[in-house]
Amino acid sequence: MEKNILDNPQAMREADTTGMLEALWELPEQCARAWELGLAAGVPFMGEVRHVLVTGLGGSAIGGDFLRVYAAKASFVPVVVNRDYVLPAFTGPHTLVFAVSYSGNTEETLSAYREARQKGATVVAVTSGGRLAEVASQENVPLIRVPGGLAPRAATGYLFLPTLAVMQRMGLVPDAGGEVAELVEVLRALREELGPQVPREENPAKRLAANMHGRIPVIWGASGTSEVAAQRWKGQINENAKAPAYWNVFPELNHNELVGFEHPAELLAQLYVVMLRDPQDHPRVQKRFALTREIVEKAVAGMAEVEARGQGLLARMYSLVYVGDYASVYLALLYGVDPGPVKVIDQLKARLARE
Ligand code: PA5
Repeated sequence: MEKNILDNPQAMREADTTGMLEALWELPEQCARAWELGLAAGVPFMGEVRHVLVTGLGGSAIGGDFLRVYAAKASFVPVVVNRDYVLPAFTGPHTLVFAVSYSGNTEETLSAYREARQKGATVVAVTSGGRLAEVASQENVPLIRVPGGLAPRAATGYLFLPTLAVMQRMGLVPDAGGEVAELVEVLRALREELGPQVPREENPAKRLAANMHGRIPVIWGASGTSEVAAQRWKGQINENAKAPAYWNVFPELNHNELVGFEHPAELLAQLYVVMLRDPQDHPRVQKRFALTREIVEKAVAGMAEVEARGQGLLARMYSLVYVGDYASVYLALLYGVDPGPVKVIDQLKARLARE
């Protein structure tokens, strides 16, 4: 029964009570709307921008990593992602801070928002509502209000693309409109291959989920390109499938993690390694992927490669993310869990709010 669920759209819909699969299907349209939202938003006036900081947690922070990796290739201004109550010491009047919280109620992000304001940084709030929307409105802080009703991790388009649009409008990155259009097209084509209507035998995301089922996924990407996708796969497997997963990047993993594939053999035999490949990765990094596969393959349960689609960095990064997003939801269904609710996070937040 468990494995058959992936070939039973009705059973999948019933098990996915919050509509994670539907939200995934809508991601290309979400990205298109999110970009328009960012282009239409009020842009803060500020003098010299020396750094950009994205402060947020979990599903609201990963968009910051998209921005960080994108900006590293496209901008002279560094983007730093902050997942904490406090901000780095460099934060000041020359820092543009995006305070991102889908719910608007995450205490770490509200604390970082307050510190950014105290330090004289220029702040843009990105949220669907909550306390962050209230405070930003009261203080006349530019506010990008995104549609609510999704899980934060299903709203990455809304949480990331408006920040890129603001950077573009402030002259901090070149026009990314062409890349966004390509991204939308690539995701639309991909969902025809990954969506629930495609049977398991022909669906790469369902096959990956079946291979990860009962094993511990280890996701490898490359610094500066697929690293965000690797991190995202791990987070999505955790939150959607309620299962552990680990991630790392080339070339760094060749200098430590690679050595750890000898003991304990019986536990290593439970790992399933997914390598996220980008044809535009540095040629030496591509070589490293291939050689590492040869070294590790015998020790683990299995290995798979997923290749990025598209020409621009946005499409390449997000296409890898999209495969992982689908695979993690299918993995949840194989485990018989509802992919949407993250009760443990909600309970922890409620307890912290009381104490
Ligand atoms: O996916 C999730 O639900 C979490 O990772 C949240 O994004 C995280 O707890 C932060 O909440 P928010 O995005 O509302 O600020």
